[in-house]
Amino acid sequence: MTILHVDSSINGANSVSRSLSAEVVAHLKAANPSETVVFRDLASQPLPHLMQIGGGDPVVLEEFLSATTVVIGAPMYNFGIPSQLKIWLDHIAVPGKTFRYGASGPEGLCGNQKVIVVSSRGGIFTSGSPYAAFDHQEGHLTAFFTLLGVTDLSFVRAEGLALGEEMQKRALEAAQAQIQALAA
Ligand SMILES: Cc1cc2nc3c(=O)[nH]c(=O)nc-3n(C[C@H](O)[C@H](O)[C@H](O)COP(=O)(O)O)c2cc1C
Repeated sequence: MTILHVDSSINGANSVSRSLSAEVVAHLKAANPSETVVFRDLASQPLPHLMQIGGGDPVVLEEFLSATTVVIGAPMYNFGIPSQLKIWLDHIAVPGKTFRYGASGPEGLCGNQKVIVVSSRGGIFTSGSPYAAFDHQEGHLTAFFTLLGVTDLSFVRAEGLALGEEMQKRALEAAQAQIQALAA
């Protein structure tokens, strides 16, 4: 059983998504100490853009396929995900490996994998809020992992992080409560 821990924030030790994704991994490890953790840092070791069809790194794909649980630190950058994380998605979306084209459209091949996304953002974009339609971060990741057939997809969300100390404190407490509620 392997946990793949992926981070993409460029904010190093000050990153909220990095500290929360580490807490998620610690929570999972506490429940299942025998799980192996593989860590991939997309900010300090960025992957190359795909330069041709099928040009993804087979090691990166294998690392994803070998994981039973994938924990992803995913900040919102300019309403979407960091470009470093987008490149990782390009490497793991491989026809015949993670999804295939069937008679009725694409079929995901990753139905046994569990994905937990830590979403951090400066503003508030939760469904029902005035800027919900500007969220191309969580929606993108939901569409992507749905394509891959992942049904066990959950989000730990810390938002409103740029809206003052009190909002930030509340956001972190809410995210920590979501982590404790995650099924291990
Ligand atoms: C390049 C960049 C772009 C950002 N764009 C947005 C944005 O579009 N909307 C938003 O609410 N916050 C935005 N932010 C704020 C981050 O989402 C917020 O600081 C979050 O905590 C980043 O996650 P991190 O702490 O893990 O680095 C941006 C931050 C950076 C560095």
